[in-house]
Amino acid sequence: MANALHKNDRHKNDRHKNDQHKNDQEKEAAASASLKFIKDGQVVGLGTGSTAAFFVRLLGEKVKDGLKIRGIPTSEGSRRQAAGLGIPLITLDDCQAIDVTVDGADEVDPQLRLIKGGGGALLREKIIASATRQLVIIVDATKRVPVLGKFPLPVEVIKFAQPLVAKKISALGADVRLRLQPDGKPFLSDENNHILDCHFGQIRDADALARQLSDMPGVVEHGLFIGMANIVLVANGTEIVELRHKA
Ligand code: 5RP
Repeated sequence: MANALHKNDRHKNDRHKNDQHKNDQEKEAAASASLKFIKDGQVVGLGTGSTAAFFVRLLGEKVKDGLKIRGIPTSEGSRRQAAGLGIPLITLDDCQAIDVTVDGADEVDPQLRLIKGGGGALLREKIIASATRQLVIIVDATKRVPVLGKFPLPVEVIKFAQPLVAKKISALGADVRLRLQPDGKPFLSDENNHILDCHFGQIRDADALARQLSDMPGVVEHGLFIGMANIVLVANGTEIVELRHKA
């Protein structure tokens, strides 16, 4: 019996490793496909997360090969990665508008509405996205959903308001959890705020929910990105599906 369990566990582990490997291959394929949107002379928003990290790495290789761009990171993490790769970096002080931003997402629905913030960078990501002419989202196939909400919606709140906001969001029907670090202390965003992960199940009216959350005092930003993505590149195996926002 012990042996049989062992075998099952090993089988599960192997399957998990295979799925992870496939996901990473898809993330890298989507990142690679996004490079065609980057041109010499552009200001490029650098997304956050494991998929965006593939993009930053590939962009670093292009910069080494002579591509002339200036990057603007969406998090301290992507700033550190890009700086380490020699990508020239600027801040919002140095530019009026961003030509193109490439970023990941936690979920994408058929209207190209997104849930973002799994990596905790939603605030800076949304600010950069709002100043971007062309927002290109790169995802593996698991991120495409018919209805948003299976992934818990991250909501960034100032610490003082967190208990009050958590109650208000619970009253909207979500199971709300304060995001914690591995040591059990609250996770802090790059802007020193808390994040509430809000399990809605299915978000039937994302537009209305976005308005309700934005109207709550103490909410700094939420992870619903509506009407922001221009292009979504979905890697499905070796195939790249390009979804474009219909005006
Ligand atoms: C970070 C994000 C990420 O883009 C999102 O969580 C996707 O991450 P990954 O590519 O690691 O799945 O929004 O705040």
